[in-house]
Amino acid sequence: MTQTMTGKIVLITGAAGAIGTAAATLLASRGASIAAIDMASADFRALHKAIPDAKRLLVLHADVTDEAGFGAAVAQTVKTFGAIDAFFNNAGIEGPVAPIPSFPTEGFRKVMEVNVVGIFLGLKLVIPVMAKAGQGSIINSSSVAGLTGSSGLCAYVASKHAVLGLTRAAAVEWGGKGIRVNCINPGPIESRMMASIEEGASPGAGKAVHDGFAATIPMKRYGTPAEVAGLVAFLASDDAGYINGGAYTVDGGMTAA
Ligand SMILES: NC(=O)c1ccc[n+]([C@@H]2O[C@H](COP(=O)([O-])OP(=O)(O)OC[C@H]3O[C@@H](n4cnc5c(N)ncnc54)[C@H](O)[C@@H]3O)[C@@H](O)[C@H]2O)c1
Repeated sequence: MTQTMTGKIVLITGAAGAIGTAAATLLASRGASIAAIDMASADFRALHKAIPDAKRLLVLHADVTDEAGFGAAVAQTVKTFGAIDAFFNNAGIEGPVAPIPSFPTEGFRKVMEVNVVGIFLGLKLVIPVMAKAGQGSIINSSSVAGLTGSSGLCAYVASKHAVLGLTRAAAVEWGGKGIRVNCINPGPIESRMMASIEEGASPGAGKAVHDGFAATIPMKRYGTPAEVAGLVAFLASDDAGYINGGAYTVDGGMTAA
């Protein structure tokens, strides 16, 4: 089933990253216009290549932990496109990889700032826009690390569990106003982020860690950014019209094992 997104406006944070770019590409291919937020330092080339129609891609530089800057980007989206029909609240970082006793406290705070405060600010800034329209779909990026523990990743695990909590809180608070809020929980995806986690877990032996992780997944492989994008596009679409407050794995069966 292919869900049309013709005429829909989709805002995406972390849009220059692997999953953000894949989601923007898929949603644009289904007819959506994309407002793409990422850090000024991010590389937007893949995004521009995927969506060459300048009228359907608005690139905005903002840090999701900066309420004023993030707010200005949301306002610019509404000014340019007139609405936000779907919001992929996706920016996130993996942070350090270390056991709890040696986990750097500043690194812990930074992960919570981006992955929790950043997601909160996304909800805070976009919900009023959707509430005015009486409709909208928000998809928060959690992770399998939002459902289960993982050694060496205490900050990431805690932050992604918090994203599930924010998802449920927002879904309960705003479902009655026509705003659906769900989260996605991807397993390991072939990406820079997983390569960083693999290298952090065993410096110099990232490939072995990758293959070890993959062997534990029922489908015996990592997922692709495009496979995550497929779930995002479904939740963004009208076909998901009664889906609210849920957590959806896209993990090759990892959390079923
Ligand atoms: N890659 C995976 O295996 C995986 C698995 C589960 C969940 N996730 C989650 O999916 C999301 C996207 O992951 P990805 O693999 O595309 O990672 P990525 O690093 O490729 O992309 C993340 C993007 O977020 C941006 N970003 C980081 N901090 C920001 C900030 N403060 N303000 C604005 N933008 C910021 C980065 O510049 C980057 O472009 C993350 O929330 C991640 O935790 C990823």
